[in-house]
Amino acid sequence: MAESFVLNTGASIPSIGLGTWQLEPDVVGNAIYAAVKAGYRHIDCASIYCNEKEVGLAFKRLFDEGVVKREDLFITSKLWSDHHAPEDVPEAIGTTLEDLQLDFLDLFLIHEPIRLKKGTTSNPEDFLPPDIPATWEAMEKLYDSGKARAIGVSNFSCKKLEDLLAIARVSPAANQVECHLIWQQDKLRKLCQSRGVHLSAYSPLGSPGTSEVNGPSVLTNPIVISVAEKLQKTPAQVALRWGLQMGQSVLPKSSNTARIMQNFDIFDWSIPEDLMAKFSEIKQACLNSERMFFPLFHERLLRFEYAAHPLSVYKTLEDFWDGEI
Ligand SMILES: NC(=O)c1ccc[n+]([C@@H]2O[C@H](COP(=O)([O-])OP(=O)(O)OC[C@H]3O[C@@H](n4cnc5c(N)ncnc54)[C@H](OP(=O)(O)O)[C@@H]3O)[C@@H](O)[C@H]2O)c1
Repeated sequence: MAESFVLNTGASIPSIGLGTWQLEPDVVGNAIYAAVKAGYRHIDCASIYCNEKEVGLAFKRLFDEGVVKREDLFITSKLWSDHHAPEDVPEAIGTTLEDLQLDFLDLFLIHEPIRLKKGTTSNPEDFLPPDIPATWEAMEKLYDSGKARAIGVSNFSCKKLEDLLAIARVSPAANQVECHLIWQQDKLRKLCQSRGVHLSAYSPLGSPGTSEVNGPSVLTNPIVISVAEKLQKTPAQVALRWGLQMGQSVLPKSSNTARIMQNFDIFDWSIPEDLMAKFSEIKQACLNSERMFFPLFHERLLRFEYAAHPLSVYKTLEDFWDGEI
């Protein structure tokens, strides 16, 4: 299994990256240091994670100690929703680059198709109507300038991705979305593959421990457990290896050195075809009528409830996800 995938820019994206959401500022540095020492070459960051300064200190330490060089790492960050105005996009990447102590990003993503008033985080009264074509044009200028060696999006439905592809001068290189064994994203994966957009899988372990996640757990799914037992691997390793074999990069987060190492130990074995086929038996999204009887049973775990509001352009979650929920 290749340890990287090729983006539509020609650059390689390492197939496993360390997630940094919910890594507190006092632990994120050690997690990144342990991950890079273990072999990770891809780190997924975002300004809204409020830890980019500490991430930058960890990069500096790794470079100063000669553990890796800048060109050995693939670093992603994301444009927060309060900086969608075209004139604010350069400021956003400027702050991120300063915090991360870098000259360029390997990938810069629009974090979500939501626009907020500048300086705000997620209150409904701060919603503004998004203008993705205008924001994307500003992202394209960052790509032209070399500050972002690839640009892409995150949390875009098939419809929103197709709308963007229809107007983009520079095609998005990636769509980073929730993707794991209980939300497999078959439709989006097919679209991405057919249009040369890399699918990068966030919450590949089902985000256990996240308070807003109330649905079923990837790591305790009986099919995942039985495949893990047959292969003598952990459920987490099986969940990540499934992602690689489906052609997506996976972005597990861990603060624990042993789990960081375990999650990287997925390259010298594979899930045979007959066991891969078992994963299609894992029930995916319910029809709406079914969901009334089995709420939260099989649906997105991170649904962006905050986006659906009478003051938002998205009145319902169905609007936000264009029915893909
Ligand atoms: N673009 C977006 O909107 C978006 C949204 C969500 C996430 N993301 C990105 O994707 C990354 C990963 O997603 P996530 O943090 O939601 O969820 P995740 O990686 O699916 O799950 C992380 C959780 O799994 C635990 N864990 C890690 N390795 C494990 C193992 N081997 N066995 C058992 N438990 C394990 C971690 O606990 P310990 O820390 O204690 O190990 C942590 O609680 C984020 O950090 C972020 O970079 C992006």
